[in-house]
Amino acid sequence: MLEQPSHKYTRFHPLSLKDRTWPDRFLEHPPIWCSVDLRDGNQALPVPMNVGQKLELFQALVGCGFKEIEIGFPAASNTEYAFNRHLIEEERIPEDVAVQVLVQAREDLIERTIQSLKGAKRVIIHLYNSVSPAQRRIVFRLEKSQILQLAVQGTRWIKERIHRLSGTEVTFQYSPESFSCTEVDFARDVCEAVMAEWQPTPEKKIILNLPATVEVTMPNVYADQIEWFCRNLKNRDSATISIHTHNDRGCGVAATELALLAGAARVEGTLFGNGERTGNLDIITVALNLYMHGISPGLNFGNLNELVELYERCTGMTVPLRHPYAGELVFTAFSGSHQDAIKKGLGEWERGERHLWDVPYLTLDPRDMGREYREVIRVNSQSGKGGVAFLLESEYGIELPKEMQREFGPLANEEVDRIGREVNATELRDIFFCEYVNRSDTWELQHFHVDGTEGQFRCKATVLHHGKPLQLTGESNGPIAAFVNALIKSGTPVFQVATYKEHALGFGSEANAIAYIQLRIGERSVWGAGVNTHIELASIQAILSALNRMV
Ligand code: KIV
Ligand code: ZN
Repeated sequence: MLEQPSHKYTRFHPLSLKDRTWPDRFLEHPPIWCSVDLRDGNQALPVPMNVGQKLELFQALVGCGFKEIEIGFPAASNTEYAFNRHLIEEERIPEDVAVQVLVQAREDLIERTIQSLKGAKRVIIHLYNSVSPAQRRIVFRLEKSQILQLAVQGTRWIKERIHRLSGTEVTFQYSPESFSCTEVDFARDVCEAVMAEWQPTPEKKIILNLPATVEVTMPNVYADQIEWFCRNLKNRDSATISIHTHNDRGCGVAATELALLAGAARVEGTLFGNGERTGNLDIITVALNLYMHGISPGLNFGNLNELVELYERCTGMTVPLRHPYAGELVFTAFSGSHQDAIKKGLGEWERGERHLWDVPYLTLDPRDMGREYREVIRVNSQSGKGGVAFLLESEYGIELPKEMQREFGPLANEEVDRIGREVNATELRDIFFCEYVNRSDTWELQHFHVDGTEGQFRCKATVLHHGKPLQLTGESNGPIAAFVNALIKSGTPVFQVATYKEHALGFGSEANAIAYIQLRIGERSVWGAGVNTHIELASIQAILSALNRMV
């Protein structure tokens, strides 16, 4: 890092708003919520959701109570277009839910977007273009007046086509992208020009969505920008002011809450804050922050564990163990003094001695979200994979790779369900060893030897295959690859090693090593694990463990 960061970076110069009023306000009611999980969230996934996954998430969002849901960028890809059409044609959108679609100020994209909406009951067409100095200079190479014209032209192209959506209730939304890094008076001018073209009224408002596309300041600066904008916009009562924060400096939630104080009425964000870079605003956190102050958020997160499971399955992302409200460990107390205080507080509550929640360390009652308070990590059939992984690691030093946790978690739950009671760490370790390590159903290693110099290895191995000895030889650029080669030469269906991880188990020269290997055969992938005093042998056993589990 630089000794003098000021030689490279400079402070953002905020606008001056000496008579700001937002610091004296309180949040008293929830905003209008708009989920952008299926667009902003989806576009930031390493593997974007397919139509089936998007549909499942859409239904979950509807179940949570969202009335505005951005479903995609239909002109951007066939999958996005097909998803729109599917929702509309299969009548998956409840009457009281408006679907929102994003589009840039380009006539061909607008044309396709309008086509994608035919037959929908309620839509929000969301036009955006970036307005910040950096984007004007680097991306568009346009002057301010030309950027303003781009926004007006995009609005006009939409307006000219609206008659084709007869029978559809259309709301128009405009976002000056990168609002928070733009001269606020210029962003306001662009929005006013867009309004002049669209002609909203107090009865049929335009949505002006003012994004912190990249979070570059402290949240109070964003709040000032929002208050200034609200106070200086012509025909203010014809616009709903919406905010859309990202989390680059880790303050997305704070920026949203302060911006609500500053006059915004609508919030865009995602479940668990999924999105580009450090993510979008986590709507669940803001909603439950309101809830813990006694304000009904208008969204229902009464089954948060199920929502986490569905979200992780559809997006492939994980909710961190300590994520506000939803993380697996946030209602577990490890410290004795915390446990004691919570126990006493809960006792007071259970005995009905207080009518308002005031339990030390628990900002709200986990049961309201379908969760429970725990003193120690225990694993039962309802536990998530995080608790399972946590116990294996803290008690036995077994550091399961993230993706393997997804495989082992449900297997452990099934076994615990079969046992019919909670299990302790030792029992959990036994379940793990039984499932992965101590397996010789089809394959068993008898002997393994490898010779080699850099880049060229040759292995000789004896394995039992269905009890019959097989002599194997193989060559490649590493011991594992040589063994894989030897197996494939012997007629095993072709497979690849997709993931490999190893570490020591314990300390000193007697340390056992554990290896985890994920094999892929065609579409299928399966994990294996091996434990041995030699890491090479642990890896070879992990391969056979995966093959044993493949059949
Ligand atoms: O972050 C952003 O600016 C966006 C816009 C398209 C609203 O996602
Ligand atoms: Zn965004």
